[in-house]
Amino acid sequence: MKHFVRPLSTLLTSCLFFLFAHAFPRALPIPQGQDGSGSRELIGDLRTVGPTTPVGRSIANIIMGSESGQSSVIGQRPANDTACAADPCCVWYDVSLALTVLFLGPAGRCNNQARAAIRLGFHDAGTWSKTNRDSGLDFGGADGSLLMNFGEDARAENNGLQGIIGKLRIVQKLFKIGFADLVQYASIHAVVTCPLGPRLRAFTGRKDATRAAPDGLLPDVHAAADSLIALFQDKTIVPHDLAALLGAHSTSKAFVQPGVPAGTPQDTTPAVWDVRFYNETIQSPSPKGVFVFPSDAVLSKHPAVSTEWNSFIDAQSHWNEDYATAYTRLSMLGVNNINSLRECSQTLPPARPDFPGASVQFADS
Ligand code: HEM
Repeated sequence: MKHFVRPLSTLLTSCLFFLFAHAFPRALPIPQGQDGSGSRELIGDLRTVGPTTPVGRSIANIIMGSESGQSSVIGQRPANDTACAADPCCVWYDVSLALTVLFLGPAGRCNNQARAAIRLGFHDAGTWSKTNRDSGLDFGGADGSLLMNFGEDARAENNGLQGIIGKLRIVQKLFKIGFADLVQYASIHAVVTCPLGPRLRAFTGRKDATRAAPDGLLPDVHAAADSLIALFQDKTIVPHDLAALLGAHSTSKAFVQPGVPAGTPQDTTPAVWDVRFYNETIQSPSPKGVFVFPSDAVLSKHPAVSTEWNSFIDAQSHWNEDYATAYTRLSMLGVNNINSLRECSQTLPPARPDFPGASVQFADS
């Protein structure tokens, strides 16, 4: 184990319990009747040359909705340095342990660093568009540029992310993994660290950015629903998948919204990955202590989104599976070597679908 986590070992007892729990060596079955809406399209090298490897085939299946984007496969870190050096996923066990320390609160829920990491994954990957690709400007996307020194952390749209950027830069330096992979791995690790969160499949091997991402491709919280839907469609994300992605605001708090007290959550259980957000967003008035983003308010009522939105209310496993499909796509935007990625899902902590106290409102992390 690397020197970064060794001094923190006393804090890790509960993390180790989760990390080294029993293995269930199989991919989850795909729930029926949840995926067919919207017309999804292939991206990156899956679009240009098709799936040419088993991993490429799996990612194509996941993002098209015919294979589960969740995994319950849990591995063991190779015990010695020689065995670790022979396993390209080995370093991710160490990264995973460090991220658990960073994202897990003392009460077993996910904390501010976790919610910021989930948003960071979106803000890195979401800077890609088909319009740019088709004009020969195929850069941006899930390339780690937001974590690198290109100045994107100073953009207004990334306000509130500077803290997690600083911390993940330290993790990158310690473990010498790619920036692009770390951003996406951290985002999905944070999701499964939240009680009830899905365990998305983790793929590594993306190429890091060589320049800043294009500006102006992230959504404005005050934009009209039609323009937000168009913005995401230009990223190949259909309204069905957008409805699933917006559920990430289940764990969200607003820190930098004018006139809103810092730390105001978007549902009554912000340290838990639950479906209350879907119901509470459409309540009038909103629950006391909750701030509904104007964008969520308008999108939840839009006819292209509302059916799927309402279908997530009281349907945790449906949402978890749809989020896994949609986020796997998001995490591959701008990635043009999808066929050469490898799967390291086994290095993630186990999911905690039965967390006691998951429904306690405004509970501490
Ligand atoms: C229409 C699309 C979206 C809009 C307009 C939007 C807007 C926002 C805004 C304004 C904040 C509050 C930032 C702050 O004050 O600190 C926020 C937070 C957050 N967003 Fe989104 N977002 C969108 C989509 C997404 C997506 C697709 C994801 C992830 C898949 C996501 C994940 C998060 C998370 C986890 C937070 C909480 C960050 C924290 O607590 O530090 N958002 N979003």
